[in-house]
Amino acid sequence: MVLRSDKWFRRDDEVGVEHRAAMHAAGTPADGGRPVIGLLNSTSGLNPCNAPLTELAEQARQGVLDAGGIPVELATMSLGEDLMKPTAMLYRNLMAMEVEETLRANPIDGVVLLGNCDKTIPAQLMGAASADLPALQISGGYRRPGLFRGREVGAGTDLWSYWTERRAGRLDDGEWQALERALGCSAGACNVMGTALTMAMMAEVLGVMLPGAGTLASGSARLSELAYDAGTRIVRMTRAGETIGAKLTRAAFERALRALAAIGGSTNAIVHLIAIAGRRRIGLSLDDLAAAARAVPVLADVQPIGRHTIAAFDAAGGIQAVLSALESGVAPDTPVIRAPHSPVTTLPAFAVVRGNLAPDGAVVKTAATDGRLLRHTGPAVVFHGHDDLLARIDDPDLDVREDSVLVLTGCGPRGGDGFPEWGMMSIPKKLARRGVTDLVRISDARMSGTSFGTCVLHVAPEAAVGGPLAAVHDGDLITVDAFAGKLSVALSDEEIAGRLASLPRPSTVHRRGWPALYQRHVLQADRGADLDFLVPRDDGELTFVEP
Ligand code: FES
Ligand code: MG
Repeated sequence: MVLRSDKWFRRDDEVGVEHRAAMHAAGTPADGGRPVIGLLNSTSGLNPCNAPLTELAEQARQGVLDAGGIPVELATMSLGEDLMKPTAMLYRNLMAMEVEETLRANPIDGVVLLGNCDKTIPAQLMGAASADLPALQISGGYRRPGLFRGREVGAGTDLWSYWTERRAGRLDDGEWQALERALGCSAGACNVMGTALTMAMMAEVLGVMLPGAGTLASGSARLSELAYDAGTRIVRMTRAGETIGAKLTRAAFERALRALAAIGGSTNAIVHLIAIAGRRRIGLSLDDLAAAARAVPVLADVQPIGRHTIAAFDAAGGIQAVLSALESGVAPDTPVIRAPHSPVTTLPAFAVVRGNLAPDGAVVKTAATDGRLLRHTGPAVVFHGHDDLLARIDDPDLDVREDSVLVLTGCGPRGGDGFPEWGMMSIPKKLARRGVTDLVRISDARMSGTSFGTCVLHVAPEAAVGGPLAAVHDGDLITVDAFAGKLSVALSDEEIAGRLASLPRPSTVHRRGWPALYQRHVLQADRGADLDFLVPRDDGELTFVEP
């Protein structure tokens, strides 16, 4: 077969000599006919979640060599969730562009994508979907949990609950420091059903990661073997011309949404799946999500919505066992992965709500609540942006009650400098001290996959583009009914329009650099928060134009 890289290497002119000489100089001679496989690695010293990828790239490299391919290591940017400000999500689309353009500009025939931390797998899959070369995803595995108070701590999830303890005065300085050490005890992705592992599992379901590779511990021998296998496999796929686009079908994405519901995965995966599908001109919608969540019960009893660890989930068969439960009805029926007739909760994993407060929809992770507040009416307590929230949430004079509805605006894709994870607002101290652990919280923000509580997220359109969330005042009565799919404020259309018309234009407008480009072109949450010019138009190219 003719390889893409043959255009670089199989030519008898001075340009062909230049290309081949460059490959000699790089230590990876190429003269055409052998698949050139990019090992696209997103490690960084500031991304401990991705640290295991360097060793896995070596395994993949060996696999490529053994299968007769030419492995070339390609470094890209890294998106470390914990350290990047204002949020790694601001850069997901930039990394996706970098992945696509790196593949486009270079003599690459197939690619192994090495990502792990939350945004890295979505960015790589978005870029690879647009490039449409043969591609396989590898993740770095989850970090082995540390111990605190004699039990294993789950990244994120436990920090959020202990923070509530700390704020209520029930965790002293020594314990607080011990928790920090337990949380930072090794490299790898968050070890709960957060965004990273959810997306690794979604990659498995989409068929772009080898079965079983999504839920292994970092450093495990099996992960190394699978990285080697990915290296050999990608060479075969490249020779056979099996591109990623052939796998990313509407049916595959619908299957992914059903699997997402069954594992009670991260709400962020909704945004990412819509964005990846959008790259293939597949209009995945919140209605598709709602349908999946109605059809499929939660089967995975894993933190944060359940009790067990990812290790236990993996031992019970992982996402492949969940898939067979969904597709053939043959379920392991273990305490960790249940059979459809005995789900973890009677609540669906997610609900989509719409109404005069969210005309284009919002998302609730219903399974991450105790259900009490999923049908609720209460007076709004409004915060405009994160600074306002931090400044006032613990004010003893804040007019907030147990039935209040916290509203946070200005934190969507455009208004929030990249769609930050501020949607799980903390419970005001004065209520926390009285033992209140949950309130209805509504925002145009996201929340961490490790979070929980009655949080209505991704409200679209967001406040910063004139969404009705911006019109809410303190005391307005808000009704959420997740069961009926409703979210409304007791205001008439005229009142909402009148209030919106009197608002000043949003002031956080960037004038230069990536944030300016992002802010001008980012789509709303229900469209996956991709950039408008990266989503192929109906009359435009689906993939890149060859250089
Ligand atoms: Fe990187 Fe959770 S912070 S995977
Ligand atoms: Mg996270």
